Amino acid sequence: MKGKFITLEGCEGVGKSTQLNMLKEYLEKTGQEAFFTREPGGTPVAEAIRKILLDQSLTIEPKVEAMLFATARISHIDEVIIPNLEQGKIVISDRYIDSSLAYQGFARNLGLDFVQTVNKYAFDVCMPDCTIFIDMDPEFSWRRQKGNKISNDRLENEKLEFHKGCYIGFTELAKVFKDRIIKIVPDIDKNETHRRIVEALKNKGVIK
Ligand code: TYD
Repeated sequence: MKGKFITLEGCEGVGKSTQLNMLKEYLEKTGQEAFFTREPGGTPVAEAIRKILLDQSLTIEPKVEAMLFATARISHIDEVIIPNLEQGKIVISDRYIDSSLAYQGFARNLGLDFVQTVNKYAFDVCMPDCTIFIDMDPEFSWRRQKGNKISNDRLENEKLEFHKGCYIGFTELAKVFKDRIIKIVPDIDKNETHRRIVEALKNKGVIK
């Protein structure tokens, strides 16, 4: 594939959106063509599945949840990620496969084998060149997030224990996929966090 595929991962409230906006500005300023997208979502079908996944009025069985994320991902890969990579763009996704491994594999206790199996298509055809994991303790990030707003999101509203499970998951994944996943410990200064992310991506050769 001509382009580069970058994903950004982490627990709720770690400042992913702020960092994505800063990265977008940096790439625009430096004349690098990038396409920003998110999961679950990115295509009409995946956005419809997203509504189901985040709907608080639904109780979704963990295996079904994992398969819905994986299904939305297939649509995202085929209709958005691959076509943009083929055009030589840098594709940056807010969450991707590691969220499934951390949230469904670890926090929901489905195990990595199950989640890897339902995501076989992603593993076979479209793995990120580089993943940034914003490493912030959910004890802090989740409480901060909760303090900021009342959420209507089914997953965001899970208990702290669940988010701790996600964090352990991401930490383990960073060990398993150490060539792909870069851990960035955020600074209290968002500009410094941005600098660390840009430096890491440059070192990986996925941006200039
Ligand atoms: P979103 O509002 O996009 O969360 P955030 O702003 O924190 O990225 O909601 C997506 C939610 O779905 C979030 O709680 C993480 C979760 N998720 C999974 O559980 N598995 C997945 O594979 C993906 C992509 C997301």
